[in-house]
Amino acid sequence: CGIVGYIGFREAYPVLIKGLHRLEYRGYDSAGVALINERNNLSVYKSKGRVQDLEEYVQDKDTSGTIGIAHTRWATHGEPSNANAHPHYSQSESLALIHNGIIENYAVLKAQLIANGYTFHSSTDTEVLVQWIEYIRQLNGYDLLTAVQIALSQVVGAYAIALLEKGNPDQIIAARKSSPLVVGVGKGEFFLASDASPIIEYTNKVIYLDDEEIAVIRRDQEPKIITLTNVRKPLHIKELEMNLSELERGGYPHFMLKEIFEQPETLKNCMSGRINVEATNVTLSGIIDHKDKFIQAKRIIIVACGTSWHAGLIGKYLFEEFCRVPVEVEYASEFRYRHPVIHPEDIVIAISQSGETADSLAAIELARHAGAFVYGICNVVGSSIPRNTHSGSYTHCGHEIGVASTKAFTAQITVLTMMALAIGKEKGKISVEKYLAVIKELSHIPEKIERVLALNKSIKKLSRIFTYARNFIYLGRGYNYPIALEGALKLKEISYIHAEGYPAAEMKHGPIALIDNEMPVVAIATHNTVYEKVVSNIQEIKARNGRVIAIVTEGDKSVKSLVDHCIEIPSTEECLEPLLTSIPLQLIAYHIAVNKNRDVDMPRNLAKSVTVE
Ligand code: G6P
Repeated sequence: CGIVGYIGFREAYPVLIKGLHRLEYRGYDSAGVALINERNNLSVYKSKGRVQDLEEYVQDKDTSGTIGIAHTRWATHGEPSNANAHPHYSQSESLALIHNGIIENYAVLKAQLIANGYTFHSSTDTEVLVQWIEYIRQLNGYDLLTAVQIALSQVVGAYAIALLEKGNPDQIIAARKSSPLVVGVGKGEFFLASDASPIIEYTNKVIYLDDEEIAVIRRDQEPKIITLTNVRKPLHIKELEMNLSELERGGYPHFMLKEIFEQPETLKNCMSGRINVEATNVTLSGIIDHKDKFIQAKRIIIVACGTSWHAGLIGKYLFEEFCRVPVEVEYASEFRYRHPVIHPEDIVIAISQSGETADSLAAIELARHAGAFVYGICNVVGSSIPRNTHSGSYTHCGHEIGVASTKAFTAQITVLTMMALAIGKEKGKISVEKYLAVIKELSHIPEKIERVLALNKSIKKLSRIFTYARNFIYLGRGYNYPIALEGALKLKEISYIHAEGYPAAEMKHGPIALIDNEMPVVAIATHNTVYEKVVSNIQEIKARNGRVIAIVTEGDKSVKSLVDHCIEIPSTEECLEPLLTSIPLQLIAYHIAVNKNRDVDMPRNLAKSVTVE
């Protein structure tokens, strides 16, 4: 979910709506706004659907006022509906609350409220929270801040909240625990948001709230940051590095396409200052500072979710090849609820674009408790994972808005490659020749991606042929096996076509039963150590009339004569192939989704940043 708040001298509504559009990628099944107007009336407007639906709904309503909060939702409790949209009123309609997260003990609190005569209009945990705040306040005659402090201390779960009070046009109360919240500090105005994107065009000064901190934001006063236990915190105002153009589509029809095309640039940024100009050395400050830990590590455990988990799988191949250290790659959500064996000599690497994924954060917490050294690979600067890890590297690929991750994925792989090279060298496990060859080649990857992107037109044409397929299989081996998984995920996410990624050789142990002339198979068959093996796997498919689209190395002959369609990409070091082979798969998914008229940047049911477990 996405949260925005404003208090200052401008009309709040346009600021809030613009902010919601910026945050829509975080969830988009309903949206709402609460405003206090000049006459001190508190109004709440909300609607199922996108932010645009909300705008249409409020067209004839009073949206005046210089203070307000707004929300775009990704449903956790209760289906997407007008009633379940935020903000939620308290019983007396004197409080309006928006919330991102989950209140786990809502049922107990709700039962107590019902017993005390409270009634509910929605099936959300958020309505329980706002009623609970009001209940605590009325029961004890507390001021609002105290009631919030007490109510939140009794809550189990995760939250980022913003609260307005009728008759109080000069104050927003906000708080966070395990869900992100940023306060923007302007001149005579303040902003509140789940990430900095709604704030950046007004100010680059921000305060990141920490867990269990409350921000009391009052008109024309310095914000007050105070904990649930009433400890006043000093203000740490940070400067943002993000710029506005990162948030605009820049002439592309979709953010996803823009982000796919940005990859040569984003990878250059990711390598900048880390690979020297002569391309003979890699330096990662996050590793230098903790060199011994990496040299002595007995094992690396990578935790992540979704696309970042696929990057983690490539990390396994890289670390095992260049550092000769065993690596386990875990879904954060599984890892955190097993009783995983973690030793203090382990290094746990958490990979996350947003740096806010709830399961990944919990996995880190667990690893830290067990005494492991935790390293973060994240894109969003200042997000929760970088703030909760011992060290780390940013991917530096700019704001990623398309819900289906593209540029963040290739930047994650690039960071993992640089890490494996740097650690491998420190440990003396990689030969000098290999080290130099891979770095040199890595520095040429951006140009090679340009060459793959130049195939966009022909990939678009090819995608037309397969737009109406009902199922897809993606196959790859070695370094390209995780790319097969990621290619299938991209297609699923944005076109809603069922797709499976498989290790090419495993196909004969099951999925081969699915092959017929209606089943497109995307096979990654580049010239590398497993090339011959993949060719045999393709033959097995052709023998059963499957239709094969192959990703091959420029100049390939044998696969070309075998398959229905070929996409030729430049040759590179085997370990770097994922950076090139992922590009045509991103483009195939994109074009098929566009042909099917899907909402590419905001596919149904998904959200970019999943801050609930
Ligand atoms: C969500 C997104 C995915 C993403 C995953 C992990 O499900 O839709 O695209 O891969 O979360 O997100 P993270 O920010 O931790 O990389």
